[in-house]
Order: sequence, then C-alpha cells, then structure tokens
Amino acid sequence: MESKKYSINQRRLRMSAAVRELAAGFTLHERQFIQPLFIGQGATEATPIDSLNESFTDTETSIITRIEADMASGINKFLLFPVLKFKQKVPNDFEFICKVVRAIKKRFADSAWIAADLCLCAYTTHGHCGILNAEETEVLNDPSVTTLAKYATALAQAGVDCVAPSDMMDGRVAAIRQALNNSGHDKVVIMSYSAKFSSQFYGPFRDACSSSPSNTPHLKNRKTYQASPFNPNDVIKSTYRDINEGADIVMVKPAVTYMDIISRLHQDGLDVPLAAYHVSGEYQSIELLAQNNLIERAQAHTEVWASLKRAGADIIISYAARHAREWISKIEY
Ligand code: PBG
Repeated sequence: MESKKYSINQRRLRMSAAVRELAAGFTLHERQFIQPLFIGQGATEATPIDSLNESFTDTETSIITRIEADMASGINKFLLFPVLKFKQKVPNDFEFICKVVRAIKKRFADSAWIAADLCLCAYTTHGHCGILNAEETEVLNDPSVTTLAKYATALAQAGVDCVAPSDMMDGRVAAIRQALNNSGHDKVVIMSYSAKFSSQFYGPFRDACSSSPSNTPHLKNRKTYQASPFNPNDVIKSTYRDINEGADIVMVKPAVTYMDIISRLHQDGLDVPLAAYHVSGEYQSIELLAQNNLIERAQAHTEVWASLKRAGADIIISYAARHAREWISKIEY
C-alpha cells in the first residue's frame, strides 16, 4: 500500500513573519484612529479613571498637555467628553466644554482634529440622554432635539471640527445639520452614533461620567431610545435615516459585540465612512485580562482592531488609540 503523503500547502504562507506580512490582506494605520478624552468641570488636577485603565479626567489645563503627549505618540484626532459637576434637569449651559474647545483650538489649530460628543446624559440630574416629562416617565424627543441643536451650534461656535450626537433621539441629525448651516457652520462634520445599542458595555464610561440613569423609577434604562440587541433591523434603518438627514460619518457602537452590523453595513456599500467604537466595557475587559497576565495587552488590542477592519470599519475609536502607532509597528503578523 502506498504511504500517505503529507505536504505543506497553506502553511507555506505562514512560515515566517516576512511572508505573513506579505500575505496579509490589509494593514492598520494610526491615522484611522480617534482617541476619546474626558475633561472635568471644576477639576483641579488630572485624576485617573479607576474603571478605565490609562484614562484620566483632565482639567482645563491638563487636557492641553494630554493632547500634546498624544500628538507626540502619533494621534491627532480626539473625541471630547465633558464630565459635569453641576447637573441640570433641563440642560441649557454648555459653556464649560465650549471654553475647553476654544483653548484646545487656540493651542493646536488644525493640527488636532477635535470632535465633541453631543449628548445630554453627562448634564442631566437623572442621567438620561434627553429631557424628561414632568412625571419622569418619558424622554421627550423634540425638546431634546432642540437642545442638542443649540448645543451643537455652541460647540461649532467654539471651533470644533465635528459634533458626534450620541443621544439616539429621532430627527436629531437633520435638526443639527440645519442649525449648523443656519449659523454659518456648514463645514462642521456630523459623526452620528447611528447604530447605537442599549448595552452593558458602557458601564465603565458611565462610572467615569457619573451618567448612569438613576432616580427615575419609571425609566431605569435607556431602552426607549437606544436600540435593542435583539433588533438588528432597527439600526440598519437608523443608519440610512441618519445618512439621509446629513450624517457625514456613521458609527456602530459597541463594536465587537455588533461586528455583524459593521459587516452588514460595509457589504451594503455605504457611501460614507463607517466608524466602530470599541467601547469602555470592551476596552476594559482586555485591560483586566492583561493586568492578570491572561492576555498580552498590545497584541490583544491590535487583534480586535484587525477584526474591526476586516468587518469593514474605516475608523476606530479606542481608549488605546494613543498606542496605535507603536503597537501597529510591532504587530506580529
Ligand atoms: C453618551 C455616551 C455614552 C457612551 C458614549 N457616549 C454612554 C451611554 O450611552 O450610556 C459610551 C462610551 C463607552 O462606553 O465607551 N450617551
């Protein structure tokens, strides 16, 4: 009987780092990354965020040195989150973050691209992303949209390059686009959190911003405005709606748990860039595994980033974006 022949076939292209590099279908690049940053109202010193490794709540001055350091490590695109000390039931004062934006733009001009998250949850006493009715049983759509459009105009006036509505109210992209254009800010980009799910994976972020919905017995979660993990069609519809309303960039959030949505939208042939937000809970689970020596941090993050690119993301928002250049240069293909 003839002996069975074993031969190397597919493994030829796996045999050395050099050939694996050549065989790789795509690359990652730090230019595709956005770094989220937090700035605390009334903060007197930069404070590490316990729930979110290597993230800080910065002061109005430490944010400048943070951006300088991040730019030196190769990242020049940022997403700002205000952490409010003084909360309001109906937010109407956005001056704190606008002041920070003015200072950042004065220092960095166009060398740093500045996006600002546009939501009310960090501002409200109850932690919801919009304005409530008097009985606190409902998040009111249109009054929330009106406030968000006003907020967007103030941010544009302060000099942001991009506003990123993350509230999930209906019709907000159209209202924001109109408000921006009417106030002479037609160059300001709208990056819409268009496919945003109601998720457990925002936990560490809410801890950082003290923005968990609370003290509203009839509205304990965000399920009346964020999409259900069990309804993929909902976010396909809201993505196209947002594009039609004028969103320049759309987003899937969280990223890993909703990779099917990224892939579906990508294969659909979107004609706008698609961002994937590797959210706080997703990021921190890698950090905790790494801290327990159960995973190699840099390689774990680059593996996740590769999966997001494979699925079709053009832009990656990651709390580890400031490491992208270094880690990508050391990828073991
Ligand atoms: C505000 C907002 C949230 C996140 C980004 N913008 C929290 C939420 O919707 O509760 C989450 C980001 C993260 O978890 O990294 N609406």
